[in-house]
Amino acid sequence: MPRRRIAPSILAADFARLGEQVREVVYAGADLIHIDVMDGHFVPPLSMGPQVVSALRDLDLGVTLEVHLMVERPERQVPDFLRAGAHHITVHAEATPHVHYALQRIREGGATAGVAICPATGPAILGEVDVDVALVMTVNPGWGGQAYIPSSTAKVRRIRELLGPDTDIEVDGGIDADTAGPAAEAGATLFVAGSALFGTKDPAEAYRAIALAAGCG
Ligand code: DX5
Ligand code: ZN
Repeated sequence: MPRRRIAPSILAADFARLGEQVREVVYAGADLIHIDVMDGHFVPPLSMGPQVVSALRDLDLGVTLEVHLMVERPERQVPDFLRAGAHHITVHAEATPHVHYALQRIREGGATAGVAICPATGPAILGEVDVDVALVMTVNPGWGGQAYIPSSTAKVRRIRELLGPDTDIEVDGGIDADTAGPAAEAGATLFVAGSALFGTKDPAEAYRAIALAAGCG
């Protein structure tokens, strides 16, 4: 099983002091930063684009920059995010008929590739393509601060059985010190946390509590 890691989502960060906020969680132990990209079509809100990725790259913190594309036809956006310095890109199964092609473009650009599935999407597609990360949305995509959907835990367990022990399974949405444990027990290895980290007074302390609950070594 891959090592368990927390992926702080900057969606919930204070954008006026983004660099500072990212440093806080990196000093607490994070080596992965999750960047949520929304296009106003696949999900209603707009969020951020490649400029944010290159700004984080320029901080030179030695962390993996993981981009979660909640955009329609993500294959068209992949080159810009690769140029901006993304190390990993995840596309939604529901956002394109060309998931395989999107993964190919990501890997040709030297990044690792993932597929995300929404709560109503079954795991079958994850058995059809080769992914470095299977991202299971544990809330509906588009907004931070929602409650973890309880049936997600059983879904993660099914996906772990489908994929075997070697692939990262990432849970995204409503992850905190209460929900990380059950998700880990079901087989999740990557834990996205936004509001449970950056919505608190002390993101470093919150980071350590979630990492402990998730069993990060
Ligand atoms: C939601 C995003 C998440 C979001 C999670 O569409 O994919 O990454 O930041 O936020 P929390 O941790 O607040 O549920
Ligand atoms: Zn996300």
